[in-house]
Amino acid sequence: MNLFEKAEEVREQLRKDLAQIEIQPEAIEAFRLKYLGKKGEIQSLFSLFGTLDPEKKRLFGKVANEAKLEAEAALNALKQRLAGNQKKEAFFDFTLPGKAPRTGHLHPITQTMNRIIAIFQEMGFGIEFGPEVETDYYNFEALNFPKNHPARDMQDTFFVDDDILLRTHTSPIQVRTMLKKKPPIRILAPGRVYRNEAINPRSYCMFHQIEGLYVDENVTFSELKTTLDVFARRFFGKDVKTRFRPSYFPFTEPSAEVDVSCIICGGRGCRVCKHTGWLEILGCGMVDPNVLSAVGIDPEKYTGYAFGMGPDRIALQKYGINDIRLFFEGDIRFLTQF
Ligand code: DAH
Repeated sequence: MNLFEKAEEVREQLRKDLAQIEIQPEAIEAFRLKYLGKKGEIQSLFSLFGTLDPEKKRLFGKVANEAKLEAEAALNALKQRLAGNQKKEAFFDFTLPGKAPRTGHLHPITQTMNRIIAIFQEMGFGIEFGPEVETDYYNFEALNFPKNHPARDMQDTFFVDDDILLRTHTSPIQVRTMLKKKPPIRILAPGRVYRNEAINPRSYCMFHQIEGLYVDENVTFSELKTTLDVFARRFFGKDVKTRFRPSYFPFTEPSAEVDVSCIICGGRGCRVCKHTGWLEILGCGMVDPNVLSAVGIDPEKYTGYAFGMGPDRIALQKYGINDIRLFFEGDIRFLTQF
């Protein structure tokens, strides 16, 4: 048998083996050793090489190489079939419970704000928004805080320049709304506000407010009290009590702060209400005639009430959280609890 016939025979044998082989790791390894191993059939073809004269060497080299390529291709195909089989045979238990995909949800402050807004919307309040970067005029001047008024000190302000600042409250939206709409005006204005406060568990440089404003003929303080009372009972529960304490804001006269009986201890006194039985939730009052005049509404004809509340504080109390910074850190371990 000459070398060329020998090569042909190896290839035929290889094809036969390939047709019969079991797709098992051991059989495939045996196949590899038989053809491509160091003492395998292909190698033995190459080892006969030296006995040939140069012209035949060239021809036989080609033939032997083709045999080698065929063996390698066959081995690769076998390995792929093995991998495919192993995948198919992987055990799958159809009775296992499914994995629920993790869905996101609204931030606890957004949830709180949405609930507050929904209650006032049912009472006929619309919604207004305003810019977070404000001018001194809307944030202070038109709200009856003249330049150098000491009440400006209550709101440590981030100034951009002499006239432009980050709004310290949502009250400027009152002014913007009254400038563009005629009474009756009944709106809620939610938004983010900024103050240059020392950051600690109780206060942060950014927080939220929801402003309320109602201006019409014959709006009275008793309507303000009733509206806030209804709100408190709808939001905190029907047994909650409210209390109005006299206070001061430049843009309302008279002004009040409103407390609700502590939602944690029911008024008996606990750590959250600092043993007073009460939690402060908002400031309010009758719109000062100076504010109405500043926006061109006749204070002889119209009156109005306004209020402003802090949903972050309310969410802290409601969920019994002791550090306001947790709301703004975006830690998923905290947020997924709500
Ligand atoms: N703007 C006040 C603040 O940030 C809160 C406030 C008090 C708003 C009384 C009002 C109001 O509309 O009537 O402290």
